[in-house]
Amino acid sequence: MKKVRVFAPASIANMGCGFDIIGFTLDEVGDILEMTMTEGDGITIENESGVPLPEDIHKNVVTPVINKFLDIMDRKAHIDVKIVRKIYPGSGIGSSAASCAAAAYGMNALFGYPLSDEELVECAMEGENLASGGYHADNAAPAIMGGIVLIRGYEPLDLIKLPVPGNFYCAVIHPNIVVSTKEAREILPKDVPLHDAVRQWGNVGGLVAGLYSGDINLVGRAMKDVVAEPYRKKFIPGFEDLREKLLATGALAMNIAGSGPSVFALADKFGIASRAGKIMKEHFDSRGIGYESFVVKVSNNGAKILSED
Ligand code: HSE
Repeated sequence: MKKVRVFAPASIANMGCGFDIIGFTLDEVGDILEMTMTEGDGITIENESGVPLPEDIHKNVVTPVINKFLDIMDRKAHIDVKIVRKIYPGSGIGSSAASCAAAAYGMNALFGYPLSDEELVECAMEGENLASGGYHADNAAPAIMGGIVLIRGYEPLDLIKLPVPGNFYCAVIHPNIVVSTKEAREILPKDVPLHDAVRQWGNVGGLVAGLYSGDINLVGRAMKDVVAEPYRKKFIPGFEDLREKLLATGALAMNIAGSGPSVFALADKFGIASRAGKIMKEHFDSRGIGYESFVVKVSNNGAKILSED
């Protein structure tokens, strides 16, 4: 018998212009799983987190992750999963990805770390597909590897860790509006006009250049999304008005977190991020919409083993 306790962080996908190809991790917030491997075959899942999750194991995102790992390894094992801590699903900070990343990383630890980051992300994407009906890695890759990760390509997976500026703070608010990732993906048109594509890849290049050169203003300037945001912002009341207020307070950028409905603002000073958080709260208070919100540092840390027996 072998047992691990594993943590994987919350993450924010897209980072503005990087639809499905860039994401970053947040400090402190994340999922904790306890995974026990014994001889045999099968999976059991016990949810101790207090967050409601489907009881059917085939509807829990960790199941396809574990199955994919065992397929790649061509091994059988009995895995008991205890979900100890869980980010609330639908919060826009990579709730499903945190579980998927923790499950993939935990399996790797149980087997003595045989798989690469790319292979672990392949496993985690099986869970993301169950959650949203799409194979995207922009939450799962950072949740496994930590920091800001660029998915240069999917076939095959080519993952690049980008530099994280030293002082990079994020205010996030999750308004109590229900928008599923599935729905937020289905409303997107399948084709992008050339003019918009040109703007988007200019911004992706600018974002990467800004992160490498430490040019924070370039990072902010480049975090513009003309591909997904125009279709998704209608789910978020007063979106443009909120952005205007956040930029006026000194935030570098404000965008939809992943597929929404959460939004986030980045700042290079904690004080500005705190002010941004306050403005976000006032914005939704004035519209009678409840929320959860927090201000955290953008982290450089991914999944990790907390303890093992
Ligand atoms: N890149 C994905 C999307 C992230 O925008 O649909 C989902 O969290």
